[in-house]
Amino acid sequence: MIRYNYSLRKYNTFGVTARTRRFINLTSAEEAKALIIKENFDTNNCLVLSGGSNILFTKDYCGTVIKPSFDNITIEEKSSDNVIISAEAGLEWDRLVEWSVENDLGGLENLSFIPGKVGAAPIQNIGAYGAEVSSLITRVHTLSLENSESRIFYNEECMFGYRDSIFKNELKGKYLITRVEFRLKKSPVTFNLSYGNLEPVLQDKGEITLTSIRKAVIKIRKEKLPDPAVKGNAGSFFKNPVIDMHRYADLKMRYHDMPSWQTGTGQYKIPAAWLIEKAGWKGKKAGRAGVHHKHALILVNLGNAEGSEILELSNLIIDSVRSMFGITLVKEVNII
Ligand code: EPU
Repeated sequence: MIRYNYSLRKYNTFGVTARTRRFINLTSAEEAKALIIKENFDTNNCLVLSGGSNILFTKDYCGTVIKPSFDNITIEEKSSDNVIISAEAGLEWDRLVEWSVENDLGGLENLSFIPGKVGAAPIQNIGAYGAEVSSLITRVHTLSLENSESRIFYNEECMFGYRDSIFKNELKGKYLITRVEFRLKKSPVTFNLSYGNLEPVLQDKGEITLTSIRKAVIKIRKEKLPDPAVKGNAGSFFKNPVIDMHRYADLKMRYHDMPSWQTGTGQYKIPAAWLIEKAGWKGKKAGRAGVHHKHALILVNLGNAEGSEILELSNLIIDSVRSMFGITLVKEVNII
């Protein structure tokens, strides 16, 4: 399907109005390959759109938006402990998590209810409740947008970091991810309940299972995070900053209540939500954009906001956190 001068409003969870010069929906990896060969894309003028849940359009896009919609799940390999499964890029992320839990395969349960599609998961190495998708990905199958060649990236080649990968850095915009392979664990599974409020929520639920963890995660997320269908948002707008020991010691003296986690490399991760709240932004509005009243890391579209208004608000927050704490917040969301 090809559309011209097409509205992207339904295709970004901020729900901002933006149009693209051309929009192409792809229904198979073969169709994607044929398109890339035919079009000979200029990668500066073409954008692969996944679930639109980590993107902010601040103006119309004057190139081609490509949307992979193929969404099969295949079991590739089974051993006594593990199963390797492959999921196509256009599959709704949470459908995959639901499928894995229903099939009693462990690993993805803490990542329940994250908006977006499978193809975007490796790009920003999605993570939640003590789990990161990079620990489960074995291979990422791609097509080069420059020369249409197929390339498989093994886990080590993806250069995964906190909300980071090679696809966000030197290879940004150069590859279309067609499918992702995951190594999931057969029962018995070791559960990952290390993150803050997960274990208490599970406590009165009886036996801990993949299903009960999934339910608990969905409950916590629904309580704290706004539903994009009701209030446009893209989850965490900023990354949690990592600071060195000296800055940490200095800030901790001034702010005794500052939460933090040691990173294992002698540095400290500080919740951006705390910094933003402390700087007075929680629940604040700036025109039609705002900071969610239940979670300060979530910027929201309060109704018909332009992407540029949300961007402006984010820049005001960055300035204010920098002047108060000397920390420069980095946006997690892709700005177009
Ligand atoms: N906090 C505040 N004010 C708030 C909210 C939180 O001070 O309004 C403080 C609290 O001290 C809380 C701490 O921030 O203990 C951490 O909050 P939370 O557990 O909600 O996690 P987060 O660090 O804000 C990260 C991810 C989320 C993920 C949660 C749970 C990033 C950028 N965000 O948020 O991911 O769901 O942990 O694991 O790492 C996303 O990436 O879009 C996303 C939602």
